[in-house]
Amino acid sequence: MNTMTLLSKSFPKVESYCSVHQVSKVQSGPYQICPKCAVSDVELHNADRQNEVDRMVRDKHFSGAMLPVRHAESGFKNYFVNENNRGQANARSQCVNYTKSISNGSKSNLIMVGSTGVGKTHLAVATARTLLSKGMFVRYITSEELAQRIMNAWGKDTKGQSEESVIYDFTQYHLLILDEYGLHDRDKRLELVHKVLYARYDAGKPTMLVSNLTISALQKDLGDRLWSRFQHDGLTVVECNWADQRVGVVA
Ligand SMILES: Nc1ncnc2c1ncn2[C@@H]1O[C@H](COP(=O)(O)OP(=O)(O)OP(=O)(O)O)[C@@H](O)[C@H]1O
Ligand SMILES: [Mg+2]
Ligand SMILES: [Zn+2]
Repeated sequence: MNTMTLLSKSFPKVESYCSVHQVSKVQSGPYQICPKCAVSDVELHNADRQNEVDRMVRDKHFSGAMLPVRHAESGFKNYFVNENNRGQANARSQCVNYTKSISNGSKSNLIMVGSTGVGKTHLAVATARTLLSKGMFVRYITSEELAQRIMNAWGKDTKGQSEESVIYDFTQYHLLILDEYGLHDRDKRLELVHKVLYARYDAGKPTMLVSNLTISALQKDLGDRLWSRFQHDGLTVVECNWADQRVGVVA
């Protein structure tokens, strides 16, 4: 029995009619209600609740990616391409194409290099946001933070997380975006970051590496073994060589 029939049968009918539905109202306690209006109220309420739940799930999904607050609005749509700058157009289309390939299940990696303020993080976040909106799991982290996260696992207050389990956690995302690679990490820190890169390769998971290093310096920094692994499932290299967009220079 549906809700409307139940309401009509369970409560005594009264004289008055609902002008909207042209049916007799029923007496429910002190109120005279139209069974049809009551049902649509319930449906509306359920739809509101569902929208609220959907919104909360979406917020949680996005916040899990830890995108930088400064780039809260960065997307492909507001990445401007200066008409004289073919590099910008190229960088954007390479990232858009990469996003599509990842959403189609590709394991290929992307390396984006270039000097400061050219929009690397902007494009990386745009990639993340697009994949997140398709329901994929993405994690953004700077290389320094990643090394620190693993080093924290060595301390006493680790809440039971070992180095291995932190590294394992970082292999779970569909895409890991490692920003500011090579800025602060030397020696042990570099080794820890490399461990995550090896682990993701072994798990068949793609990584986006963003750096101020030149491509040849980056290749040297990764070393032959990682460089080889990075290329195995396909590698897109995005080079951003134009003026700093933070200082308002027209490229
Ligand atoms: N083509 C662009 N269209 C719109 N905004 C841009 C563009 N390029 C850069 N920006 C903006 O300029 C600022 C600097 O860009 P971003 O932080 O992405 O630089 P970056 O290349 O990551 O620099 P760094 O190497 O110093 O981290 C950001 O606010 C970004 O949104
Ligand atoms: Mg950046
Ligand atoms: Zn009604």
